[in-house]
Amino acid sequence: MFHIGGEQELEKKHYYREITNSGRSSLRLIIQSAELQGKHLLLPNFLCEVILDVLLEYDVKIDFYDVGSDFEFELPKKINNYDCLYLIKYFGMANMSFQNAVSRFSKCLIIDDVFSPYPHVLERGTLWFSYNSLRKISPVADLSLLYSNQPIHKVEPKILPLFSDLKYKAKGLKSTFLGGGHGHESEYLNLFQEAEQVLDASRGIYSASNASLFEAIEFYRKLDFETKIRKENYLLLKSCLGDLVMNVNTKFYSFLPLLLQNRNTIKKKLMLDNIFLAIHWPENNKVSNKISNKILSIPLDSRYDKKDIEKLCDTLKKICDVQYD
Ligand SMILES: Cc1ncc(COP(=O)(O)O)c(C=O)c1O
Repeated sequence: MFHIGGEQELEKKHYYREITNSGRSSLRLIIQSAELQGKHLLLPNFLCEVILDVLLEYDVKIDFYDVGSDFEFELPKKINNYDCLYLIKYFGMANMSFQNAVSRFSKCLIIDDVFSPYPHVLERGTLWFSYNSLRKISPVADLSLLYSNQPIHKVEPKILPLFSDLKYKAKGLKSTFLGGGHGHESEYLNLFQEAEQVLDASRGIYSASNASLFEAIEFYRKLDFETKIRKENYLLLKSCLGDLVMNVNTKFYSFLPLLLQNRNTIKKKLMLDNIFLAIHWPENNKVSNKISNKILSIPLDSRYDKKDIEKLCDTLKKICDVQYD
């Protein structure tokens, strides 16, 4: 219809949305919204321990499916006994196993998309939830987006200001330290650790801080640039390191995982060269898998340019050559 002016219209979204401070708050909100308390869930055996800690708060019954070293997996034959299937988009990938699982499982699906700027949207009628956590992929300290095709429970918003205050203080000190060598590394490292302890001790569903809302606006404003640089860094690392690094196929690159037999030794040697690589995710005492004791993740974000990546490649090659001789 021809029509000009008036208040701006807005097309209705075909999914519901919420914002919390963290992946774990979003997961708690999912469990409450889907009424999964005490239910039977099927999870991957390669996962972040925080997920298990949160699920155990709700007395859920858990079984695991096995994830291979290439992040592919096969679900057990009998999956209809489960009330919910938990899928992780490893390093942002919607690989074949992920797609098969989505089409095979017809009950509640939880998509853990912590490596993506926006949670995965599914085009299906049966119940699904999907969430991310910006602190995994950006400077934003506490913000997680949660999507679902069913209305999400309304909860009394709680705040956890100490977590974001400590995080942003630590981030500021780190920036000053890296920019001009002022202060001591231990000052910001201690604050980061203190902040994580605050989050780990929390059991609620919290709102994102105002500081993080502003930082998230900045992050999304520069998303095209960020996406481009990350892809360039990924391709450069792939061409330098070849088979040493894994193949990742995603729209938005977060980290490039390496699978190394002697991961712990290599990680320690890299630290001597000021290269601090994360482990997604360390072993835990609740479940074992084929990946946790080998994996090491290279960050691909726009803090790093071609020179940094080339230097990292040279160092890594030298250390790995020595290790494999
Ligand atoms: C795969 C995965 N899911 C969920 C979470 C929980 O996210 P957050 O630390 O933001 O609570 C994490 C990180 O801890 C994670 O790595």
